[in-house]
Amino acid sequence: MSEIKVITIDGPSGAGKGAVTQTLAARTGFHVLDSGALYRLVGLAARQSGLDLLSEDAVASLARGLDIAFEPAKAGPEPLTIWLSGREVTHQIRTDEAGVDASTVAALPKVRDALGDLQLSFRKPPGLIADGRDMGTVVFKDAQVKIFLTASASVRADRRYNQLKTKGMDVSLADLLDSISARDARDSNRSTSPLVPAEDATIIDSSDLSLAQVHARVWSVIENSDLIGANVNADEVETTDGP
Ligand code: DC
Repeated sequence: MSEIKVITIDGPSGAGKGAVTQTLAARTGFHVLDSGALYRLVGLAARQSGLDLLSEDAVASLARGLDIAFEPAKAGPEPLTIWLSGREVTHQIRTDEAGVDASTVAALPKVRDALGDLQLSFRKPPGLIADGRDMGTVVFKDAQVKIFLTASASVRADRRYNQLKTKGMDVSLADLLDSISARDARDSNRSTSPLVPAEDATIIDSSDLSLAQVHARVWSVIENSDLIGANVNADEVETTDGP
């Protein structure tokens, strides 16, 4: 078992995982794993190669050989600049279509296996905040802090709508709600690593909470965990907008 501390933030799309992961990273100095981005990259790579997204062996072999790079972004709403095979794809992987493709390839057990070691390699000192669907149930079962962040489907569709609009993407709220509900069903009902809270996770419903309130609730879980002995910064951080 690794000594390096891990905080897992699992939950459905639009629950505010990405935003709270960033405020926690600023406060703790921990590394971040955006595991959804990995599945989005596999989906995009499969599309670019003209693969059938359901051909499990071919997509898994592509996932094992992914040529990707993450770099802290210099400006803009995305915290990371992301590269696939030498081409920048930061915005391309954030569309709703890319999310649906990610959810499709993520249902294939061999694809999940293929990304296993890559995900574990993000666990580096001083610690890791891992954002996804199965971080606390499968990939980092021994994490010191496990959060399951959720919100109603309509609140999540609203947030996603505002997020995508801010990024200049043209989307319809009704389509987003349909897409989120279909994605929830696929992620929750698949046989491998379904979206469920870990038994030892703290469940937080962010429907009526601001980002600052979500951050405060997660922080109180951290304060009551084994993690607080680790090298985390106990100062407050500024969290101004909603999740
Ligand atoms: O977090 P996200 O919306 O970027 O994730 C995109 C899809 O990837 C999501 O619908 C399901 C899949 N996913 C997964 O199966 N397991 C993870 N740990 C992260 C994402």
